[in-house]
Amino acid sequence: MIKPRKTVKNFAPYIAGRPIEEIKRIYKLKKVIKLASNENPYPPPKSVQDAIKNYAGAVNRYPDSNGWQLKKAIAKNFGVKISNVFLGNGTDEIIEILAKAFLEKTDEIIVSKHAFIRYKMAADLMDAKTKTIPMTPHQDTGGGFTHDLKKMALSATKKTKFIFIANPNNPTGTYNTNSEIKEMFEILKKKKLNPVVVFDEAYHDFVEAKDYSSAINYFKKGMKNICVLRTFSKIFALAGLRLGFAIGDEKIFEILERIRPPFNTTLLSQKAGICAIREKNYIKIIKKRILSEKKKLLKKLEISGFEVIPSQTNLLLVNVKNGRSVFKKLLERGVIVRAMDEYELPQYIRVTIGTPHENRIFLRELLHLKKMKNEE
Ligand SMILES: Cc1ncc(COP(=O)(O)O)c(C=O)c1O
Repeated sequence: MIKPRKTVKNFAPYIAGRPIEEIKRIYKLKKVIKLASNENPYPPPKSVQDAIKNYAGAVNRYPDSNGWQLKKAIAKNFGVKISNVFLGNGTDEIIEILAKAFLEKTDEIIVSKHAFIRYKMAADLMDAKTKTIPMTPHQDTGGGFTHDLKKMALSATKKTKFIFIANPNNPTGTYNTNSEIKEMFEILKKKKLNPVVVFDEAYHDFVEAKDYSSAINYFKKGMKNICVLRTFSKIFALAGLRLGFAIGDEKIFEILERIRPPFNTTLLSQKAGICAIREKNYIKIIKKRILSEKKKLLKKLEISGFEVIPSQTNLLLVNVKNGRSVFKKLLERGVIVRAMDEYELPQYIRVTIGTPHENRIFLRELLHLKKMKNEE
C-alpha cells in the first residue's frame, strides 16, 4: 500500500455541512432544509444566471487561466490594481495556496481559538506550527467570543509568517473593531515584526457594526503586509461554483501565481463573478432580508430561553447545552445545522439564516426538541 506523508496520515477531513439529498436518503425524508453552510438561501440574480446559461455552450474550451476580466472587474470595484487581485477556487483554496507558498516546518501562524478551522488545517498540511490564542470577552457579547487581537500581536515572534483574522468570524459571528485592529498593528510595529496579516472577510457584506471597517482600507492606505480574503459563496450566492478572491500586495500574489493550479477558476465562475460583483442592488436587498430575518430569529430564540451570541454575519451560534445531540435530532427531523465539537464549542449549534419559511421550520423543530426534553 502506498504510504501517505506522515502529516497526512493523521489528518482528519474537514467536516462540511451535510447535503440535503444525503439526509433525505438516510432518514427517508421528503423535505429537508439546510441551514448548515452559511450560504445565501436565495438564487443568484438573473444577470448571473443568464451569464451561466450563455456560456454553458462554451465550456469545451479552457477558461482564461489568469481570469483577467474577472480580476479587472474586482480591481475596478475596490479601486486597486489588477495585480492586487488573486483568484481562487473558493477562499479555501487561497488559504491553502498561501500556506503552500510560504510555510516551512519551522514557521508558525497565529490564529484565534474558535476561529474558522481552515487556517490551522493549512498550516498542519505544511507541518508548520499553529499558535492558538484564546478569545477575549467582548463588551457586547461578554462571552469570550472575539479574537483577542492584542494577545495575538503580543504572541507574534520572528517565526510568525501569518496572523489569520476572520472578521467577522465563523462560527461565532463576532467581529473586531477598527481600533482593535489599529492597536494590533501598533504592537507589531513596536515589536518590529512584519507578518502577513490575513483578514478573512467572507461575511463582510452582512456587517452592520459602525466600528467595523474592511482591511482593504488599510491596504489602500499603503500597508503592505495585508491580504484580504473575500468570497462569492455567501451573499453573492455562488457557493456551488466555487469562487473566491484576495486583495493585497502584488509581491505576495506574484508568488501565489507561480504555484496555483492552472485554470483554478472555471469559465462559468469567472463569467458569473463578473456579473455578480456589479449587482449592488441585489446585495442590498439580500442583506436587508437576511438581517431582518436574523433579528426575528434571534428574538424568538432568546424569548425561548436560548443564549445566542450576537452576530454580524448570516449565522447564529446557539447554546443548546448538548450541540451534538440536538444536531442529530434535528437531522432526523429534516433540519441540517452544524454541531460545533470541532470548534471546541460542544454546547452550541450553528445555524445559518435561511428564508422566513426555513427559519420557521428550524425554530419549530428546535422548540419541539426543547419541549420533549422538558417532559423527560
Ligand atoms: C470565514 C470563512 N472563510 C472562508 C470560507 C470558505 O469560503 P469559500 O466558499 O470561498 O471557500 C468560509 C466558508 O464557510 C468561511 O466561513
